[in-house]
This record gives sequence, structure tokens and C-alpha cells, in this order.
Amino acid sequence: MSKLALEEVLSVHHWNDTLFSFRTTRERSLRFKNGQFVMIGLEADGKPLLRAYSVASPNYEDHLEFFSIKVQDGPLTSRLQHLKVGDQIMVSRKPTGTLVVDDLLPGRNLYLLSTGTGLAPFMSLIQDPEVYERFEKIVLIHGVRTVSELAYADFITKDLPAHEYLGEEISEKLVYYPTVTREEFHTMGRLTDHIRSGKLFADTGLPELDPKQDRAMICGSPAMLDDTSAMLDELGFNISPRMGEPGDYVIERAFVEK
Ligand code: A2P
Repeated sequence: MSKLALEEVLSVHHWNDTLFSFRTTRERSLRFKNGQFVMIGLEADGKPLLRAYSVASPNYEDHLEFFSIKVQDGPLTSRLQHLKVGDQIMVSRKPTGTLVVDDLLPGRNLYLLSTGTGLAPFMSLIQDPEVYERFEKIVLIHGVRTVSELAYADFITKDLPAHEYLGEEISEKLVYYPTVTREEFHTMGRLTDHIRSGKLFADTGLPELDPKQDRAMICGSPAMLDDTSAMLDELGFNISPRMGEPGDYVIERAFVEK
């Protein structure tokens, strides 16, 4: 069997000039853990042009959802952004990745720290019943430059609490904390600053981060990963040393240059 499946685009949603999401069909045999990524792409000059994309939909859905930036001269996203319903796209049959709950030690509150399209794997995870079984609160932080980049905000605040099976648990346990750096918004600044200053805890009523009890996952640009990891390290958190060995936190690149 080929390593790549051909899937059909079911819908496309443009959030703004720089971000879009799309859904595709899903091969029944494709198994993945929430938080993992697959390689997806198109054929260009007779060869597959593939990039890593986190699956933004949970693993119990019949479709796959992806969240992408649009880079005008990006080899793949300059083409992907023109996807239309009915187009075909290649999806690898080997999901992988480090943002999985199995690689976290048991704990109290789970912090999902993201910037930009780093939100994608967390969209899958916040729809995973196991996440709500394992942790008391799930704190999803999304840092972006402008308000229009707060993709999925309505889905998180309106649709998820009304979710048929998970709604009640989501309403009780999910804390969504969006923050914007380059435009007026009720919460402004970098997520690392909100954690260091204590603003996050003052705003949400959550207890301060405690490496003995709390766990974290980080997904963003290389600079954001470095700074956020350094902050957690300073606070006494231990990173999962490798896949399959649990730690206090795990990280993944948001695969920004596409
Ligand atoms: P800022 O506007 O202060 O750079 P980007 O599009 O560059 O990936 O940024 C997405 C969001 O992540 C922006 O709000 C940006 O803030 C923020 N950001 C960028 N670098 C870091 C970092 N090292 N630590 C925390 N947040 C960051």
C-alpha cells in the first residue's frame, strides 16, 4: 500500500487573509492520537510536495481538519490556499508527534500553550474525552498578533460547550485564554509575560503554575518554543526526554514556514 492516501476536500474556511482551515475525507484505516500530525500535500512538477500538519479534528470524527497559514511565496501554502471543495489532497498514512497525553505524567491542570497555527493540535486535544478524564482543568492559551487571527474562538466558546457528549465537561473544565499582541483586545501581550507576571492566574482564578501538579504542552514558532520551554524549565518543569517517556511537558514546532 502506498504511504500516501488521496483524500477529497469537503469544505474550506478562510479566517482572514493569512489563515484558513479545511476538511477532507478520512480513510477508515487511518488511526491517530489526538495531538499528532501527518504529512499532507499536493503534486508539484510530478512529485509530492508535502509538509507536516497537525490534525485539528479529534480522532473519532469521520473527516480530517487542518489549520494553515497562507504564505504567498510558500511552496505548498501558496497552492493550498486555493483548495476547493472536491479537490484531492495527499495525506500520509503515518501519523506521529510528541503532543500526546500519554507522554505527560498524571497531574492537576493541563496548560495548552499555543501561538498562531500552533493552536491546531490543541483543537484536536480539547475534543478528546481522555484529556478531560486525566486533568481537572484544561487551560488553552492562544497568542496571536491580531484579533482576526483568533481562529476557532467562536467554536471554542459557543459550539464546544454545547457539544452533544462532551459539552458538560467542557463547560466545567476548559478555560480559554486568547491574547493579542498587536491590536486592541481585552487581553493584550505575550502568553509568556502573562504567566511570568501572574496576570493569567489573576484573570482566571487558577492557582499559579506548579511543576509538581501541573502539566503543559507547547506549540508555536521556534522562538516561542524556546522562550516558553525556558520559562517552564526555570519554574522547575521537566520536559519529556523522548517519545514514550513521560514528563511534565512536551513541545512541538508549529511548522511555520510552509
Ligand atoms: P509579538 O507580536 O509580540 O511578536 P508569530 O506570528 O510571529 O508566530 O507570532 C504569533 C504570536 O506569538 C504573536 O502574538 C507574537 O507576539 C507571539 N510570540 C512571538 N514570539 C514569541 C515568543 N518568543 N514567546 C511568546 N510569544 C511569542
